[in-house]
Amino acid sequence: MHPINVGIIGCGNVSSQYLNAAKFFQAFRIAALADLERERAQARADEYGVGKVLSVDDLITDPEVDLVINLTIPSAHAAVNRQILEAGKSVYSEKPLGTVREDATPILEIAESRGLRVGCAPDTFLGAGLQTSRKVLDDGWIGEPIAATAFMISRGMEMWHPDPTFFYQPGAGPLFDVGVYYVTALVNLLGPVSKVASTAVTTFSERLVTSQPNFGTRIPVGTPTHISGLLTFESGTVATLMTTFDVWASELPRIEIYGTEGTLSVPDPNTFGGPVRIKRANAPEWTTLPLTHGYTENSRGLGVADMAHALASGRAHRASGRLAYHVLDVMQSTLEAAEAEQTLTLSSRAERPAPFPLGLVEGILDE
Ligand SMILES: NC(=O)c1ccc[n+]([C@@H]2O[C@H](COP(=O)([O-])OP(=O)(O)OC[C@H]3O[C@@H](n4cnc5c(N)ncnc54)[C@H](O)[C@@H]3O)[C@@H](O)[C@H]2O)c1
Repeated sequence: MHPINVGIIGCGNVSSQYLNAAKFFQAFRIAALADLERERAQARADEYGVGKVLSVDDLITDPEVDLVINLTIPSAHAAVNRQILEAGKSVYSEKPLGTVREDATPILEIAESRGLRVGCAPDTFLGAGLQTSRKVLDDGWIGEPIAATAFMISRGMEMWHPDPTFFYQPGAGPLFDVGVYYVTALVNLLGPVSKVASTAVTTFSERLVTSQPNFGTRIPVGTPTHISGLLTFESGTVATLMTTFDVWASELPRIEIYGTEGTLSVPDPNTFGGPVRIKRANAPEWTTLPLTHGYTENSRGLGVADMAHALASGRAHRASGRLAYHVLDVMQSTLEAAEAEQTLTLSSRAERPAPFPLGLVEGILDE
C-alpha cells in the first residue's frame, strides 16, 4: 500500500507518539509539521527527520498533505478541525472533537457536505485489550449485559505534565480528558447511550503545579473535577461512571461488565493491552483470557492508520467523528444533567464500530 501523506498541527507532548506510529504503520507517513510555536515543530522535525516545517495556514493548504492530524490543546480542536476541512482536507483530531456539541456539529456537517472524513481519538478501543473484550462480549461469554461500572480515579495531572493548565478548563477535566476513554470503550462494547444523570463537584478552586518548569504556580479550576454519572444505554444496560482528579488512591477496577452468565473485567481503556479477565457463572475463580487481537503496547495513531486504510479502500473508519460526537454528547450531557439536577435524554447516537478481524499482521490493517 502506498502511504498517504499526513501533516501534524500541534507538536507538544503527545506528538511524539504519532510520529513513532508513522514509522510503524504502512498506511501513512508524516510529510509536514506545524505549531503556533514554530520551534516546537522544528524540534520534532529534527528529532524524527521530517522534511517540512510550515505555518499552520501553509500546512493546511500544502498540496502534498492528504490528511491532517490535529494535536492542539482541546480548546483549539474545533476551530482547527474546521479550518482543515474548509481547506478541503480530511482531519483526524485528538480528543475531544470539540469542547461542546455546538462547536462539533459544524465539523461533521462540513465534512459531510464536502465528502471529507473526520476521525477522532481515542483509538485505544482498537487495541488488543478492548478488541478482545469486545470479542468475548459479542461471542456471548457473559450472556446479555445487564450493567457496568467504570472508574477513572486520579489526583490530577499537575504532578507530571509540563503545562497542565488546560486539564482544568472546560473541554478537559477528568471526564473530558480521561473519562473520554471510558465512555468510548463503553459505547464500543455496549452501543449508544440514550440517557444520563449525574452529580458533579469542583473540590478545589485551584491546583498547585509540582511538575517542571512551572513548579509552585497555582492554576485556576474552571470545570468540575469529580463527576459521578449514571448512563443508560439504548440496549437497557445501565453503567455507573465515576471520573475524578481529586482522589489519591483506590482499589476499584477500571471497567466491569455484568452479564446474565458472568462478569467481564475490562482493562484500563487508556491503554492498549490487557489483562482481560472473566468469571463465568459458577466458575470457582477468575480466568485471565489470552488476547485475541494485536496492539498491546501504546499504539496511539492506530486510528489514523485505520483511517488511512479506509480512505484507500472506501470502507468506514472506526475512530470516527460520529462516534466522537456521540461520546462528546454523553460527556457534555453528563455535566448538564448535574447542573440541571435532571436525567437528560440524548439526541445523538452512534453505532458500534466494526471490530477488527482476527489474524491481522501488525502494522497493516484490513482493507
Ligand atoms: N500528552 C499526552 O500524553 C496525551 C495523550 C493522549 C491525548 N492527548 C491529547 O492530545 C492533545 C495535545 O496534548 P499535549 O499533551 O500534546 O499538549 P501540549 O500542550 O504538550 O501540546 C499542544 C501543542 O499545540 C500547540 N497549539 C495550541 N494551539 C494551537 C493552534 N491553534 N494551532 C497550532 N498549534 C497550537 C501548542 O503550541 C503546543 O505545542 C490534547 O487534546 C490532549 O488531550 C495528550
